Amino acid sequence: MKVFKTKKELKTYFKGYSSKNFTIGFVPTMGALHNGHLSLVKESVDNNEITVASIFVNPTQFNKREDLENYPRTLESDLTLLQSVSCDIAFIPSTEEIYSNTVSSNHFEFDGLEIQMEGKFREGHFNGVGTIVKKLFEIVTPTNAYFGEKDFQQLQIIRKMVQKNHLPVSVVGCPTFREKNGLAMSSRNQLLSEKEKEEGAIIYETLCRVKELIDNKAIEKINSWVGEQFDKNPLFELEYFVIADEENLTPALTISSNKNYRAFIAVHADKVRLIDTMAL
Ligand code: PAF
Repeated sequence: MKVFKTKKELKTYFKGYSSKNFTIGFVPTMGALHNGHLSLVKESVDNNEITVASIFVNPTQFNKREDLENYPRTLESDLTLLQSVSCDIAFIPSTEEIYSNTVSSNHFEFDGLEIQMEGKFREGHFNGVGTIVKKLFEIVTPTNAYFGEKDFQQLQIIRKMVQKNHLPVSVVGCPTFREKNGLAMSSRNQLLSEKEKEEGAIIYETLCRVKELIDNKAIEKINSWVGEQFDKNPLFELEYFVIADEENLTPALTISSNKNYRAFIAVHADKVRLIDTMAL
């Protein structure tokens, strides 16, 4: 596996590649890799001639300095893991390489996708995500780019950005990977205590129960029931629970049979923020 830190190294490598018709699969990450990330890399390796994974903790998508500072950084083991799944290139740029002297976001319109859920609680987050993903797409020039469905709102926003900017890349959404107890794999899980990891099953169990309830309970009643589950649990504080239209992410008040819906949840375990989602 090659490890490149600069755009120039990457460009030179692609230039030297003999065949003109090769596909590049790309898995952008912020590191602290887990099996969910590795499944994206495997999907890319199986479907492309070259796979590039980037590791870059993007400062512009963090709305709290503390969150950025505490984000887990495990570069050495990340590189070993990438190598173990036959990744061809790890791209690990510095902040300067990506942003030069101006570490700031561009403004994006995502047709309202950005004002729901995460957008309400993490101001500027999606402008930061849009900025870095667009920059990385320009640098890596992927044919296919792989993102986890756990961050479903992010996935829809990236699809929208690609569509609006006519970017020549296919965005591939991949299923959420879970721990044995159902807790969605996330880099942030490394910051949880053993007890929080164990009891984190409540997030998945709640989503599963919602999936059962949706056919014969009003959404308002389901929302209250979810609130009660977390009120009873001293370890986790519910930030939001929303049942939304999968396409435009607007919260649903009633269910129409011709649309697809998803439940979205964000909770805090002390200082760690966790999100999850489930198709209903
Ligand atoms: O999902 C992530 O890890 C990040 O938001 C991404 C897509 C790598 C952009 O920094």
